[in-house]
Amino acid sequence: MLSKELYAKLNEQLGREYIASNIYLNMSSWCYKNRLKGSGNFLLKHAMEEYGHMQKIFNFINETGGQAIIGELEATQTEYTSVEEVFKKALENEIFVSACISDLVTFAHTNKDYPTFSFLQWFINEQVEEEALFCDVCDKIEMLGGKLKEEKLFLFDREMQRFADLHQ
Ligand SMILES: [Fe+2]
Repeated sequence: MLSKELYAKLNEQLGREYIASNIYLNMSSWCYKNRLKGSGNFLLKHAMEEYGHMQKIFNFINETGGQAIIGELEATQTEYTSVEEVFKKALENEIFVSACISDLVTFAHTNKDYPTFSFLQWFINEQVEEEALFCDVCDKIEMLGGKLKEEKLFLFDREMQRFADLHQ
């Protein structure tokens, strides 16, 4: 059994992971709608990963004697102006989630909650990977000169399909 405050914070993070999953689902849909199947596939896979993160926290809370709660989730963006905006926002979201995890780790450590501190190590490493992944995608867009259209957009989307296949 952990402290009430920590359960509340873990439930908040659970909500953020769920929202992240919904963000990527909506991004994926937008890509499919705009004929970017590779990007859509990549983001759909990523949405499933985020759902997995949510489940990890859900299980941890329940296994330690707390109660995981799926509260009200804010609606996520459905329209984008470009694929650049999609991936820029994805990277921003990952940076935000990393900062939230760091705060949670600091809180667990300060309150000498070592089970949670230990549990969160996996998330720290995961966020390093996630940020690196989306940085890589944003770099690719930049290398292609930004404002992707026609051939460059086609090449980028094909690269995203490769990313989707790599991260099976
Ligand atoms: Fe996540």
